[in-house]
Amino acid sequence: RSEKIWLTLSFGMIIGFMLITGYQTFALEMGPPSHGERIDPQKVDETAPFDQPGIKQIGENEYEVVMTLQVFSFTPSEIEVPAGSTVHFTLTSKDVVHGFQVADTNLNAMVVPGYVQKITQKFDKPGEYLVLCNEYCGAGHQMMSTTITVK
Ligand code: CUA
Repeated sequence: RSEKIWLTLSFGMIIGFMLITGYQTFALEMGPPSHGERIDPQKVDETAPFDQPGIKQIGENEYEVVMTLQVFSFTPSEIEVPAGSTVHFTLTSKDVVHGFQVADTNLNAMVVPGYVQKITQKFDKPGEYLVLCNEYCGAGHQMMSTTITVK
């Protein structure tokens, strides 16, 4: 008798887990964190513009930064712009969820694999701006940082 109860219970648990997993997948599909532009996280290196990560001047005092995030680094790792520049960031993750937070600015974005995150920031004050990952992404999370130099 008790075997039957256990069997029913474990079966119920399996169904429960399947429902939760299914719901999470569904919620992720339904709720793009930003502008909703999708990208295959497995093919970031082959997908424009991420096949050429880097910084590009696109106007007077205007720059575009195409950046990939991966455990535990930012590519490109060095960014330098003149003071007064407006910088458009196009970001994606190649693996897990990372954060993109720039000290002394309001920049704070979640970078989720599968999505393209776009944010813009004007840098008026010269200095070294610390860029931090603020989403726990594994054992090297605390070391995941870079700088933006404004001259
Ligand atoms: Cu990347 Cu924490």
